[in-house]
Amino acid sequence: MYESESAWRDVDAYFVDTLVPEDQALVEARESGRGSSMPQAEVAANQGKLLALLCGMVGARRVLEFGTLVGYSTVWLARAVGDAGHVTSLELEENNAAVARGNLERAGVAGRVDVVVGSAAESAWRLVEEGVEPYDFVFIDADKPSNPEYLKASLALTRAGSVIVIDNVVRNGAVVDPDSADARVQGVRAVLADIARDSRLEATALQTVGSKGWDGFTVVRRVR
Ligand code: DHB
Ligand code: MG
Repeated sequence: MYESESAWRDVDAYFVDTLVPEDQALVEARESGRGSSMPQAEVAANQGKLLALLCGMVGARRVLEFGTLVGYSTVWLARAVGDAGHVTSLELEENNAAVARGNLERAGVAGRVDVVVGSAAESAWRLVEEGVEPYDFVFIDADKPSNPEYLKASLALTRAGSVIVIDNVVRNGAVVDPDSADARVQGVRAVLADIARDSRLEATALQTVGSKGWDGFTVVRRVR
């Protein structure tokens, strides 16, 4: 597609080799994604490490993830919260969740992760009803049309100081088209607009290139 894409991949490989070695559990988790409902949708190793670093920087003990898939990012998040921490990860597909549980077991973190199967929005609102403790860190990485709903639920499940990261906010540049017929693009644009007008939230968005092509993250800090 882009001539530079092979260079992006080479640089990612160099960064990952140098700074982000994956252990066997992460390698197997990534490879297991090939058989999932969305092959290769998991984050890159250096992106997973970024999530883990952000969790460490805010001292996250409780993490909520929308979109487990096969649990690759979940392994990074679960390792980041330490053995006193907890991750709740919401996944629509039972088959993906089953693969994820195996990956979490191999990574030695199954005991600190709940993979909840079903509609992520319904599962999240159920957590609100149950009155769970607030989450310190949220990673939104599920179906993109539901991003605004996931943000709304996240705001019912976090506190001042919590951090929310949203994956896939660029999608090869498609995000700039206000008339896009792609519901995923509209889901991203709608959630960015919601964030922008919410005085509780401070946010930025960053484009990324690398082994995942051209995409990006939104990083949000809840200030009150
Ligand atoms: C898609 C979803 C993701 O979360 C991702 O990281 C890459 C691709 C997708 O919907 O195609
Ligand atoms: Mg993603």
